Amino acid sequence: MLFTSLPLLAVLPLAAAQQAGSLEKEVHPKLPWSRCTADGCRQVNDSLVLDANMRWLHQVGGYRTCCDDLGWDPNVCRSSANCTDTCAVEGAQYSAYGVNATNDSISLRLKTNLDYASTVGSRLFLLDSASENSYYQMFTLRGNELAFDVDLSTVACGINSALRFVAMDADGGVSRFPATANTAGAAYGTGYCDARCSRDQRFVGGKANSDGWVPSETDPSSCAGKYGACCPEFAVWNSNAHSFSMSSHPCPQSDYHVCEGLLCNASARAPDEPSSGQCDPRGCSYNPFRMGNQGFYGQGKAVDTARKFTVVTRFEDARVSQFFVQDGKTIAVPPPTWVGLPRESGLTAETCAQVPAVFGERDSFAEGGGWRAHAVLLRRPMVLAMSISVDYDSNNRWLDSLYPPQDGAGQARGDCPVDEDAFTAVAQHPNAKVTWSNIRFGTVGSTVALNP
Ligand SMILES: *[C@@H]1O[C@H](CO)[C@@H](O)[C@H](O)[C@H]1NC(C)=O
Ligand SMILES: *[C@@H]1O[C@H](CO)[C@@H](O)[C@H](O)[C@H]1NC(C)=O
Ligand SMILES: *[C@@H]1O[C@H](CO)[C@@H](O)[C@H](O)[C@H]1NC(C)=O
Ligand SMILES: *[C@@H]1O[C@H](CO)[C@@H](O)[C@H](O)[C@H]1NC(C)=O
Ligand SMILES: *[C@@H]1O[C@H](CO)[C@@H](O)[C@H](O)[C@H]1NC(C)=O
Repeated sequence: MLFTSLPLLAVLPLAAAQQAGSLEKEVHPKLPWSRCTADGCRQVNDSLVLDANMRWLHQVGGYRTCCDDLGWDPNVCRSSANCTDTCAVEGAQYSAYGVNATNDSISLRLKTNLDYASTVGSRLFLLDSASENSYYQMFTLRGNELAFDVDLSTVACGINSALRFVAMDADGGVSRFPATANTAGAAYGTGYCDARCSRDQRFVGGKANSDGWVPSETDPSSCAGKYGACCPEFAVWNSNAHSFSMSSHPCPQSDYHVCEGLLCNASARAPDEPSSGQCDPRGCSYNPFRMGNQGFYGQGKAVDTARKFTVVTRFEDARVSQFFVQDGKTIAVPPPTWVGLPRESGLTAETCAQVPAVFGERDSFAEGGGWRAHAVLLRRPMVLAMSISVDYDSNNRWLDSLYPPQDGAGQARGDCPVDEDAFTAVAQHPNAKVTWSNIRFGTVGSTVALNP
């Protein structure tokens, strides 16, 4: 997932609206949610923060940009240590990123046009209060369930509206990397990591990732440096109006950790090469379309994505399962139809072990630590991340089209065209918008009242 950082021209007019020398005040959009038990639910008044990687990064005490789409500016800072000392992330104007929080809902729009530039996509994390000095809100999934309502009717092919749990540090990495004196912390969205071991982070392990930093060959707004930020992740919801998938992405090491160079890149490994000991970027996933149920999810289908619906995800030891509620009716996710896969939907040890065999794939899930590492993931606190993005590397085909892009068992993931690129998705659907609302988390069975 790659994002546009706000370039200089886009920011100067915003900053110029402030008093001379003063910078943008960070005001976190509020997002109340409900914590539930068998006795009922109570409201928690939290807020959201934009990922630090998407913010304006500039010289401390000045307006010169440290790093933009083209790279780090050597006139501003020349080494990782120098850039770490010299550069600051700025407060964000959330509307400039297409973020709108109203009551208990949060919507993310794909593209936002500003006076001299535009932003594409956003990623936000849930904080543990509505105050300025918050940590991330931490969730331990095991034995619990998550429910949310979602409207993604305009989220077209090639766009991914995602809600995931990632094993970031609650303080954004401040105490894990004390030497780098990160004073921005969670309140400015620092410390992102995921199972892709992303090297597109401008700061990794608290330090500027400026060594070896080069523009991406595919994404016009992204670069990658020498280091990547790894941690396990549970993707509750990668989705658009055509397809969705749920996936678990374990790592052999369950906390935030730093990888270097090609060792970060799981897809650089040949099929017969040994595992690099990194995380599983692909994950053990469940997408009903891929599992053989093409009439389940989509416009006018059993779950009608033209209208709002509720997604409930249950994190139990033996199985992570999902079901839907729409028009007051509970809708079960159908089991796989493929011979050799369990007759049960969702993620189980058996499904995760059988999918690579049945679909003839490398077992990256086992390399990331398999079901045992998944069990560790469910027991550790994680951060809730919400995003909307396009994918310049493979245009989301892993979610909604053919991937790899030729016919074969398990390669069809949705009904989207195989030959469309991310530029087309942005150009044709700039106003694609996902709205999540009424988020509830608590013990299994506590978040939704089910009609018989
Ligand atoms: C959350 O905010 C609502 C009003 O918006 C208030 O009624 C409620 O008491 C607050 N809850 C807590 C725990 O502060
Ligand atoms: C960082 O580099 C800039 C530009 O070369 C220089 O002006 C500045 O003094 C350096 N800062 C530190 C702390 O080394
Ligand atoms: C935010 O969403 C609310 C509710 O849908 C809407 O009334 C309001 O106009 C939106 N604000 C912006 C700035 O788009
Ligand atoms: C937000 O809540 C207020 C007060 O309950 C209500 O009047 C308004 O319609 C709500 N707005 C949206 C977009 O749900
Ligand atoms: C990862 O490795 C693959 C295969 O060698 C290569 O095509 C891809 O560009 C690499 N990605 C990154 C981010 O280095």
